[in-house]
Amino acid sequence: MPKKWTASSIKESKGRQKLICLTAYDYTSSRLLDESGVNLILVGDSLAGTILGYKNTLPVTMEEMLHHTSAAARGIQNALLVADMPFMSYQVSTEQALTNGGRFLKEAGADAVKIEGGEIRVDTIKTLVANGIPVLGHIGLMPQSINQLGGYKVQGKKPPEAKQLIKDAVALEKAGVFAIVLECIPPRLAAEITKAVKVPTIGIGAGRHCDGQILVTHDMLGLSQDLSPKFAKRYAELGNEIKEAVKEYSKDVQSGKFPADEHTY
Ligand code: KIV
Repeated sequence: MPKKWTASSIKESKGRQKLICLTAYDYTSSRLLDESGVNLILVGDSLAGTILGYKNTLPVTMEEMLHHTSAAARGIQNALLVADMPFMSYQVSTEQALTNGGRFLKEAGADAVKIEGGEIRVDTIKTLVANGIPVLGHIGLMPQSINQLGGYKVQGKKPPEAKQLIKDAVALEKAGVFAIVLECIPPRLAAEITKAVKVPTIGIGAGRHCDGQILVTHDMLGLSQDLSPKFAKRYAELGNEIKEAVKEYSKDVQSGKFPADEHTY
């Protein structure tokens, strides 16, 4: 029996089932994912590369995120819809984070928001949660901090970094997040964090011991033209299928095979 997932039911699912999470940025794909039983759909700021053609996530604006979140919301019945708060929409002040976070729920139909960062985000998360905005945390590789991190690298390999990530996860839990994304960290550390917190961990490049997994849908369906990361298993090669279909269409148009009688009024 399908049911509407909420931030609370996602939180309570820990230990009961593995969470299936994917990204979507529009009505058609969110509807397909929702109908396939995905539990949590993220309108990620990966929108930058997958849809908008930016080279990283930094240029994405609030207006772009709101626009795509509204479209995705219209395709969802059961999954929890989480909107990624874009770079500089929550870092400047708690007030600004609250205003922008609220817009995702009020104007775009999101159920929750995601923000990147550990201990440093505690006050912001407390404020959002206290005002009715559920928050999904995100630690490890944080693409919005790419200039600080010096590249898309595995995080937490050295013991002090690993220790800090565990502290970050515990701080996020205390601040009130309903789940935490762990991106690109060693599987043993992900397992340790998963044990240390009572909220579900959702891994991406963090091994199999997390409470759920998330991937960028364009990567897993083979739609990304650029090299996709090692962790992004490709379950289909839709990019190639699209090209083949377009080539066949071109041939048919050129040869006069399309449109045939059955496509003509
Ligand atoms: O922007 C995004 O798509 C993400 C994840 C894949 C976790 O943050």
